[in-house]
Amino acid sequence: MSKATSNPKSDKKPDSKSEIADLWPGQSTELLKSLHILTRDGKLNQDSRRKLKQVQHLVQLITPHLEGLTNVADLGAGKSYLGFMLYDLWLRERPETKLWAIEKRQELIQACKLIASRSHFDRIEFVPATILEAVSAPELPETIEAVTALHACDTATDEAIAFALKKNAKFIALVPCCQAEVARLLDAAPKRGGDEMQNLWRHGIHRREFGSHLTNVIRSLYLESRGYKVRVTELIGWEHSMKNELILAEKVQHANGQAQKQLEALLERFPLGMKLFELNS
Ligand SMILES: C[S@@+](CC[C@H](N)C(=O)[O-])C[C@H]1O[C@@H](n2cnc3c(N)ncnc32)[C@H](O)[C@@H]1O
Repeated sequence: MSKATSNPKSDKKPDSKSEIADLWPGQSTELLKSLHILTRDGKLNQDSRRKLKQVQHLVQLITPHLEGLTNVADLGAGKSYLGFMLYDLWLRERPETKLWAIEKRQELIQACKLIASRSHFDRIEFVPATILEAVSAPELPETIEAVTALHACDTATDEAIAFALKKNAKFIALVPCCQAEVARLLDAAPKRGGDEMQNLWRHGIHRREFGSHLTNVIRSLYLESRGYKVRVTELIGWEHSMKNELILAEKVQHANGQAQKQLEALLERFPLGMKLFELNS
């Protein structure tokens, strides 16, 4: 899998003469003010810096995979920080590419439409829908070649996987959010006498961490079984975010029987009935 090493807008390091050294050269301060990443007088607070760094880094990682694609979707887009910065830094000069931002909260869609219109970003389409509804939304094309989902809550990341598979995505980038589903399922699962493994999730905090870990292991194996080459890494240093696991998947073959067997063996040990499988059955 190729890896970006440079700012997609320029190979230069952030401009030392730039008013704000954290911005990439040419990055629109007006857009960042509209997104409330910069204050009205152009300052960056600690939280905004974290968000900015995270999105810049993600843009850098994903853009090599988007080159030449026609349709890209950002799922659970929220305030569309990713979509807007991706447009500003990369899509602006790629007239062949259209970005679809899917978000279930109407008020966020309205606010984003306003920013897009003021910024003359005419190749982002905001769709007020859940990710699952968007799979069959008539305005969306049948194929969406790349899918991103940044901090899509709990099982919304599983909806993003289902969306990507149904839309035949060649490339998927997921940064999962708080996963509660598997911790809940582990808690509800019948206790097996003599099974020391249960110590891994006996305490609530371990259950959440182990549940989250197991969820992402299963998601990654599942994507592999569906023919993707998967790389799991951290998005950015832990000082920037606690929700930091990045799953990158690139379609390389129709299916992978070996990964399927490994997934089945894992699911035999953890027969949890996750939504991921319900959505993809
Ligand atoms: C934590 S926010 C992240 C927003 C954005 N991706 C970001 O990283 O800044 C999660 C967003 O996903 C949306 N969301 C959650 N579940 C969803 C679903 N099933 N379908 C569509 N949007 C969803 C929420 O409304 C929220 O705006």
